[in-house]
Amino acid sequence: LLFGIITTVKIRIAENAGFCYGVKRAIKIADEALKKNEIIYSLGPIIHNPQVVGEYEKKGLKVVETIDEAKNAVLIRSHGIPPQVYEQISEKNLECIDATCPFVKEAQDYAKQLYEEGYFVVIVGDQNHPEVKAHIAYANYKAQVINSIQEAKNIEAQKIGVISQTTQSMDNFVSIVSEFVKKAKEIRIFNTICDATEKRQESAKELAKNSDLMIVIGGKNSANTRKLYEICLNFCKKVYHIETKEELKKEWFEGVENVGITAGASTPSWLIEDVIKAIEKIENDIY
Ligand code: F3S
Repeated sequence: LLFGIITTVKIRIAENAGFCYGVKRAIKIADEALKKNEIIYSLGPIIHNPQVVGEYEKKGLKVVETIDEAKNAVLIRSHGIPPQVYEQISEKNLECIDATCPFVKEAQDYAKQLYEEGYFVVIVGDQNHPEVKAHIAYANYKAQVINSIQEAKNIEAQKIGVISQTTQSMDNFVSIVSEFVKKAKEIRIFNTICDATEKRQESAKELAKNSDLMIVIGGKNSANTRKLYEICLNFCKKVYHIETKEELKKEWFEGVENVGITAGASTPSWLIEDVIKAIEKIENDIY
């Protein structure tokens, strides 16, 4: 104890953390397209992670807000786009590199189907999220986006069709749907919550229960990372949301024995590893 560096802190990573299937796939599609094109235009940042976006910008993936700014090839990120944007891409004769996550595509198809079958379409999610904006478009802009039981109570329709933003929490989805069961005559529910999100949230919860400190890594603009942060807050007293190792503070680790780490769906593994190495260094400084 006098001579060696004793590390008493245990660092554990959530069983499911980091890149999900859809993001891994989008990155792979971008990598392959960048081999063939010097510059590609990404409609919005490829993922909600500033570090990854910065890295890809250097490789030639230029972020644009509208199709008008794009030349040659457009990359559609995993969140998907409204059908009208596909039309604009083809009108401008641009190559369309479509990295929409297949699970998001499925939700878009359900939104369209529910609208066409005459349901009052309800999307459980965040109305400002690009994925949800596209879902609304697939429901012919007739969908209502809600996120709380109170908002569910205000809906008067008798024939309701429900889908969810893929990254929503199951608990909230279930409570909202139960509200509809109480008063609507007919309800059609498509559970479009992505399995990756559920698994990541479950393992974050389990780990948070058994940790003195939880570090959640991911973009501050990433909805699913923020959700992980909120979930962890319910089960652990000390929770911090960081983007990179630079934000770690030594004092967070004082008196802490169990550190749990989780990361959003758009957090690459090298960022997680960087954070772990930095924590190990901090521990060695403390003990
Ligand atoms: Fe797709 Fe699920 Fe990821 S919907 S983008 S695999 S969180």
